[in-house]
Amino acid sequence: MKFFVDTANVEAIKKAMELGMCDGVTTNPSLIAKEGKDHEQVIKEIAAVIGDRPLSVEGMGDTAAEMVKDAEKFAKWAPKNVVIKVPMTKEGIKAVRILKGKGIKTNVTLVFSASQALIAAKAGATYVSPFVGRLDDIGQSGIQLIKDIMEIYKAYDHKGETQVIVASVRSPEHVIDSAKVGADVATIPFAVMEKMWVHQLTDKGIELFKIDYAKSQQNK
Ligand code: G3P
Repeated sequence: MKFFVDTANVEAIKKAMELGMCDGVTTNPSLIAKEGKDHEQVIKEIAAVIGDRPLSVEGMGDTAAEMVKDAEKFAKWAPKNVVIKVPMTKEGIKAVRILKGKGIKTNVTLVFSASQALIAAKAGATYVSPFVGRLDDIGQSGIQLIKDIMEIYKAYDHKGETQVIVASVRSPEHVIDSAKVGADVATIPFAVMEKMWVHQLTDKGIELFKIDYAKSQQNK
């Protein structure tokens, strides 16, 4: 499973890079707004620290033409990295087809059903981003959507043409349950990544080993 970092915070991305936990980055207008900096500046700062890893950048165009215009602008900001995020709408899917023809990678976001994911894959999206946390928020099962999507993609010999990025991840359990069904990527907030490392018994075990090691040193 690839781990993308779901943030526009460069310091968090640097930490994830140091830990080998950054196979890519996803941003969106809300994550950009949190940084309080110019969109282009943030994207270029992130691109400078992630090598040639994929970096999803989202515009706000309503029509396919507006989305394509945004995409051509964003792609110039970080040609090695930029993946264009478009919403799961008819205009977004039209934009996917146009951008595919231009060799620009796409990430169809705000996906909440298997039928939407199927349409995105049929259009040739590079990535599709089903939002598990927001489905959970309304009492539906986000992980069930991931299972449904992976079942469909595998039924058609999941050639990896369209990769599934599990998004709106709120807990390590979201990551684990998605990995169990073979989701290609999880895009994970750094705070959730931190939780993935920790277990109370690991900490307790280290503490006890240190105590016993100290005892063994006294016996020399
Ligand atoms: O990648 C999408 C993600 O940033 C949305 O997360 O928690 O706002 O649903 P959330």
